[in-house]
Amino acid sequence: MRAGSRPAPNSQKMAVGIDLDPEQIGRARKRIADQYDGRIVLAVGSITKLPFADASFDAAFDVGILHHVPAWQTGIAEIRRVLKPGGRIFFEEVTQAALDRWIYRRFLEHPRENRFSEAQFLTELQRHGFKSSSPIHRVLFGDIFIGVAKLQGAGLEDQRSSEIANS
Ligand SMILES: C[S@@+](CC[C@H](N)C(=O)[O-])C[C@H]1O[C@@H](n2cnc3c(N)ncnc32)[C@H](O)[C@@H]1O
Repeated sequence: MRAGSRPAPNSQKMAVGIDLDPEQIGRARKRIADQYDGRIVLAVGSITKLPFADASFDAAFDVGILHHVPAWQTGIAEIRRVLKPGGRIFFEEVTQAALDRWIYRRFLEHPRENRFSEAQFLTELQRHGFKSSSPIHRVLFGDIFIGVAKLQGAGLEDQRSSEIANS
């Protein structure tokens, strides 16, 4: 996942990128070396346990991560936790139908259980208070879907209070 966005040259914004695989982080570090004045931070970590404070990011980018994560719903909950109210998730994901194809199974490694369709992914986002804020773009006959969703309404604390009140 990438949280934040690539900062514009004169921006003071920070971006943080994480991946579970230290090699991926090493490659990314080489690619951005000496750019952005240290405003991009890269770290090894899991989307299911983000090492960031609640409500600390304006945007999160899930670029083909969650379909690799057995507990992908926990990943969405974590993204929701670290986003500020009104924050956006930008996602590009792969469907279960695609992962079930011979070619994916033969050449790529993915968890087999608890994968998702586009509809299941969007429903999970909705369950966490996100609302789609762009039409979904589909590529490769719908194997890959790309979209943006915005975190609605109350801040995290308000939502937690209402969850407690309703439990
Ligand atoms: C298809 S690659 C996408 C890599 C990168 N986002 C890109 O667009 O090039 C999937 C990545 O998910 C990472 N990954 C798998 N489980 C993860 C987790 N729980 N937290 C963070 N990254 C994870 C893998 O290490 C792998 O680099």
